[in-house]
Amino acid sequence: MKYIINTKKKQSTINKHIYGHFSEHLGRCIYEGLFVGEDSPIPNQDGLRQDVLEALIAMKIPVLRWPGGCFADDYHWMDGIGPKEQRKKMINTHWGGVLEDNSFGTHEFLLLCEKLGCEPYINGNVGSGTVRELSEWVEYMTFDGMSPMADLRAANGQKDPWKVKYIGIGNENWGCGGNMRPEYYADLYKQFATYVRNFGDNKVFKIACGANSFDYNWTEVLMENAGKHMDGLSLHYYTITGDWENKGSAWDFSVEDYYTTMKKTYEMDTLIRKHGAIMDRYDPEKKVAMIVDEWGTWFDVEPGTNPGFLYQQNTMRDAILAAINLNIFNKYSDRVQMANIAQLVNVLQAVILTEGDKMIKTPTYHVFEMFADHQENTLVESYLDCGLISDDERYVPEVVESASINEEGDLIITLCNVSLDKTPSIDLSLVGMDATMVKGELLTGSMNSMNTFENPDEVTKSEFHGFDITEEGLKINLPTCSVVKMVVKS
Ligand code: AHR
Repeated sequence: MKYIINTKKKQSTINKHIYGHFSEHLGRCIYEGLFVGEDSPIPNQDGLRQDVLEALIAMKIPVLRWPGGCFADDYHWMDGIGPKEQRKKMINTHWGGVLEDNSFGTHEFLLLCEKLGCEPYINGNVGSGTVRELSEWVEYMTFDGMSPMADLRAANGQKDPWKVKYIGIGNENWGCGGNMRPEYYADLYKQFATYVRNFGDNKVFKIACGANSFDYNWTEVLMENAGKHMDGLSLHYYTITGDWENKGSAWDFSVEDYYTTMKKTYEMDTLIRKHGAIMDRYDPEKKVAMIVDEWGTWFDVEPGTNPGFLYQQNTMRDAILAAINLNIFNKYSDRVQMANIAQLVNVLQAVILTEGDKMIKTPTYHVFEMFADHQENTLVESYLDCGLISDDERYVPEVVESASINEEGDLIITLCNVSLDKTPSIDLSLVGMDATMVKGELLTGSMNSMNTFENPDEVTKSEFHGFDITEEGLKINLPTCSVVKMVVKS
């Protein structure tokens, strides 16, 4: 297999926010997963789980979206501030009909982001909220000086304003966020966005609700009617193996299911290309970012768990799928400025699972940790001449890759071998640099290997030795079903 990387052909910057995450008031993501409360016997800092904080910092989480998802358009932020015993309780109608006591609100979320060293991305309520409510939320968080909302914030213990750059104006307003037509939402977007103000030096990056998967008309209408008023336009695409009624098991699946999942996830490439082409017509300078703020696998919930909690296990299949998507996002980093896998802990394609005081890192976690070296690097031109795994409808390349250069001039290469039976030997020609000092990392296993609370390190990274330095560059031998990172020192 021939592979060329031309380190002289520098392309876009890989925004670190491509490695972003999403946390919703859904199932055990916020409560139990992130927040256990100050009085919990589980070690915590201000109620935030210590073990989870440490794992997320090590993974270099750059940005976190909150409070939803569908929950966002049902959320009234004022219910989640002030003394906890006085906070209003509500029913989480979207997710399991459970009681939401609002003990995790704006202050707790922004404290979490501060501890993680990541940017907050707050998703506002358009579906059931008001223009004033969103406008006041932004004032509450970011106004520096005396104002009704800044005074309220100070009375609640936070004198200094926070910096909050990313504000989403509604979520899935074509569905759970109000079942709107794109024409109607485009007008509403402009109305809400007008009153989302920049206070002091806090400059808001406004994100409009974008399309569901293949709904290209939504993108067309939004760009035509509101493109000039937005900084970002979102896109949601989930990978399911079957259909929405029968999505398939997260770990009990066949080889055929495995390849179907891979081919379906590779449609992300087509989606970005086609939505991107529409955006290019209205915004050739790529001023409006594509924000893939929900992506990942969506399988049937683990048997015996609350169907509204979306708890699923995570296998090597999820790891390969994450690596495919992250490589795709890198390749389109001229347009894709943020992506947020759904969701952070205990929900859908989580990087972390918890059970009481126990915590495990999933195979997907290890992929994020490996790929973190790409954050803020410069993408370089690369081309791999490999075969396709295909059927009449869809395809996925046997190996999916991307390459970038960091500030020191080191080259980072990430490859994933989708194949379950081929071990490709890759002849890499490196242009513009010599391979002298090279290190590699490997994540591999059988397609449904997973980490469990009994066996937390079944799938974990190891040093990769399957390469030789050659005159042209490198010869790399990939194991089946594997993710490999190579670092070539400058
Ligand atoms: O991530 C779960 C749900 O999927 C989100 O709440 C919603 O935005 C999407 O449909």
